[in-house]
Amino acid sequence: MGILEVKGVNKRFGGLKALSDVNLSVRENTVHAIIGPNGAGKSTLLNCLVGKLIPDTGSVMFDGQSVLGRKPHEINQMGISRVFQTPEIFGDLTVMENILIPCFARRDGAFRLHAFENFAHEKDLVEKAEAILVDVNMIDKRNMHSASMSRGDKRRLEMAMCLVQEPKLLLLDEPTAGMARADTNNTIDLLRDIKSKRDITMCIIEHDMHVVFSLADRITVLAQGTPLVEDEPENIKGNPKVQEAYLGEAAH
Ligand SMILES: Nc1ncnc2c1ncn2[C@@H]1O[C@H](COP(=O)(O)OP(=O)(O)O)[C@@H](O)[C@H]1O
Ligand SMILES: [Mg+2]
Repeated sequence: MGILEVKGVNKRFGGLKALSDVNLSVRENTVHAIIGPNGAGKSTLLNCLVGKLIPDTGSVMFDGQSVLGRKPHEINQMGISRVFQTPEIFGDLTVMENILIPCFARRDGAFRLHAFENFAHEKDLVEKAEAILVDVNMIDKRNMHSASMSRGDKRRLEMAMCLVQEPKLLLLDEPTAGMARADTNNTIDLLRDIKSKRDITMCIIEHDMHVVFSLADRITVLAQGTPLVEDEPENIKGNPKVQEAYLGEAAH
């Protein structure tokens, strides 16, 4: 049994079948990549996992509980976080203040401003945030104002803002899309660092095979809304079915 179990998921958009009988099992503490050509249904699947879309049929179980019909913030409280969809970074605040923002947001959406302004008194929270800053290699930047940071550091900060919510499962939709090679490699290092320092499961949707083969323990290949293969990276590399799916994309 995986920490995330998707069974028989179907999703239509009008006449278009975006997901067709999708089964997926993500094992705890692994990095599971979902790959496939454009339009394969990767983002649709991810949206079904975080409550943004409800499948027409099928089940999505996380840690033994159904995520279907729950609101995105409830799914977040169950331990699923979608990375790079975290709140915007506030440039006028320091790195530490940005990380602590989610800790002072109440369930009803209100923000405990007074407590936030006096966060130094909340020793447990500050220690938790410091531990996360160590994990993302930013502890020396804790008092820096985030507006002046590099793109790579901003990404580290976004990741830290997500980790402070202590997710069990991180979902990443094309975290390196549009990045130059150096930034891509930094992101790979960042995700490796985090994985090596905490018990966390990652499900990563990715186009760039370099990223996939650098990080994934297991890979599911989606094509036209259906899983084509699920296997370990070594077995995916030379798989003719996978090559066919990508060649199909190149021909469009
Ligand atoms: N909200 C929507 N309404 C209509 N069609 C959609 C919607 N979202 C996605 N699609 C279609 O569903 C298919 C799968 O899309 P998507 O999940 O975004 O693929 P991927 O992320 O693999 O590129 C595509 O044909 C896309 O055009
Ligand atoms: Mg997509």
